[in-house]
Amino acid sequence: MVAVAPVASTTSTSKPYSLTCALFPSRQGLSGNFGSFRTRRLKMSSGASKAVAKIELRPPPYPLHGLEPHMSKNTLEFHWGKHHRAYVDNLNKQIVGTELDGLPLEEIIVRTYNKGDLLPPFNNAAQIWNHDFFWESMKPGGGGKPSGELLQLIERDFGSFDSFIGEFKTAAATQFGSGWAWLAFKDSKLIIVKTPNAVNPLVLDSYVSFPLLTIDVWEHAYYLDFQNRRPDYISLFVEKLVSWDSVNARLEAAKAQAA
Ligand SMILES: [Fe+2]
Repeated sequence: MVAVAPVASTTSTSKPYSLTCALFPSRQGLSGNFGSFRTRRLKMSSGASKAVAKIELRPPPYPLHGLEPHMSKNTLEFHWGKHHRAYVDNLNKQIVGTELDGLPLEEIIVRTYNKGDLLPPFNNAAQIWNHDFFWESMKPGGGGKPSGELLQLIERDFGSFDSFIGEFKTAAATQFGSGWAWLAFKDSKLIIVKTPNAVNPLVLDSYVSFPLLTIDVWEHAYYLDFQNRRPDYISLFVEKLVSWDSVNARLEAAKAQAA
């Protein structure tokens, strides 16, 4: 396992967050407009200040009660407020003063995946990214059916919208233990993949697929509302919570980057 050597703290400037740049890594390399971090300056007891990069806990794009009655405020308070927050806190402790300190979150994920020989920060880093992506995969009043080109691609690549829903539900239900199910865009086609633990499409196939939608199937995502009934949670997610607006925006960004 490769050690992460400590180096001097970065003084990188912050970049504003945007949906497209943060969700899709640059195909030109890993130094593009990733937006999930910023620097802050800590006042030292001596009066001097030291720049410290800090991965931030980003809130969901709706209030914690915003997905009720389908996903409870209680679930969001624990899932975002405890679990997601812990990934952020733990990653910041792991990377402070290392060569990862100040890098974009996506670059930390790829570096620490280390071609499958995971470095310690990987799980926390990937879980932060996955949860940001998950919160934005849902919206109040979501669900239903997409339209336009997205629907046409779904029907082209899965036969019908109902077939797509069936395959997505099966992937989410059959991911053994903790993990994620994804709709992704790869080689101009829509595909469904499932990943264990914190693994995500950013580290699969060396950046040749673009995630469009995800569902968290870790038990902490549904246990408070559904106990062990994962299939019921999955059905509710696709019928009442999916933000097809987000999927559409991600598809447009993916097509632009793939061109
Ligand atoms: Fe989660």
